[in-house]
Amino acid sequence: MKGFLSSSIGKKLLMSLSGLFLIVFLLVHLTVNITMLFDPIEGKVYNTAANFMGTNPIMKVMEPILAFGFFIHILYGFIVQFNNWKARGNNKYAVVNQKDSSTWASRNMIWLGIFVFAFLVVHIINYYAILKFGEPPSTHVGGVEMHDTFKLVSDLFAIWWYDVIYIIGFIALGLHLHHALWSAFQTIGLNNKLWRRRLEVIGDIYTVIVVIGFTIIPLYFLIF
Ligand code: HEM
Repeated sequence: MKGFLSSSIGKKLLMSLSGLFLIVFLLVHLTVNITMLFDPIEGKVYNTAANFMGTNPIMKVMEPILAFGFFIHILYGFIVQFNNWKARGNNKYAVVNQKDSSTWASRNMIWLGIFVFAFLVVHIINYYAILKFGEPPSTHVGGVEMHDTFKLVSDLFAIWWYDVIYIIGFIALGLHLHHALWSAFQTIGLNNKLWRRRLEVIGDIYTVIVVIGFTIIPLYFLIF
């Protein structure tokens, strides 16, 4: 088992499985956040959803698993990339025109990943750190006291340059996902001819939903 996980296919498999887990997280995160637009004046629906996610015992168990998922994905992302650079360095005379056989996103996954990670650090400081370790605003919904997460988000997105930073982050995430989904499916063995095209389409539909879904939130607060 240890030998398999340190082989190049084992490392790619770990990266793919952790990536697929993060892909599911993003969909759940988007579903919770989009509720903000159901009641964008008082934010009661969103605060109720965010409070449920923050206090539910299952979600409490999922939190360290999510952090571990990010850790494994980033760690193995770097290891696989360094191995690729090393292999390419040892094979200087092989003339391969990568531009003919791959997309811009697939050649720049490591840089897109680093960019998304930088976005994530800003994002965690903006929300998670304040909610867990700071002094977040509070509110009452149906007699229950809870964090006013809606106020945190709407106050942040009232600052136009935060909207710009977030939207650039979502575009980088979209480019990363565009190649990531197909690549992960391929690594776990779903790469036959019939399914290749289908999975590419499923990946692109998912990516468009995630990028547009997240983007309309800062855009809403920017415009209205
Ligand atoms: C408009 C878009 C987004 C909004 C409004 C938003 C809002 C939030 C909020 C309020 C929290 C804190 C939740 C809590 O601790 O109770 C949070 C946490 C988090 N967000 Fe986002 N988020 C957005 C997009 C994203 C994106 C695109 C990613 C991934 C690239 C992401 C990754 C995370 C992670 C990893 C956490 C910490 C884990 C958690 O608390 O669920 N978020 N987000």
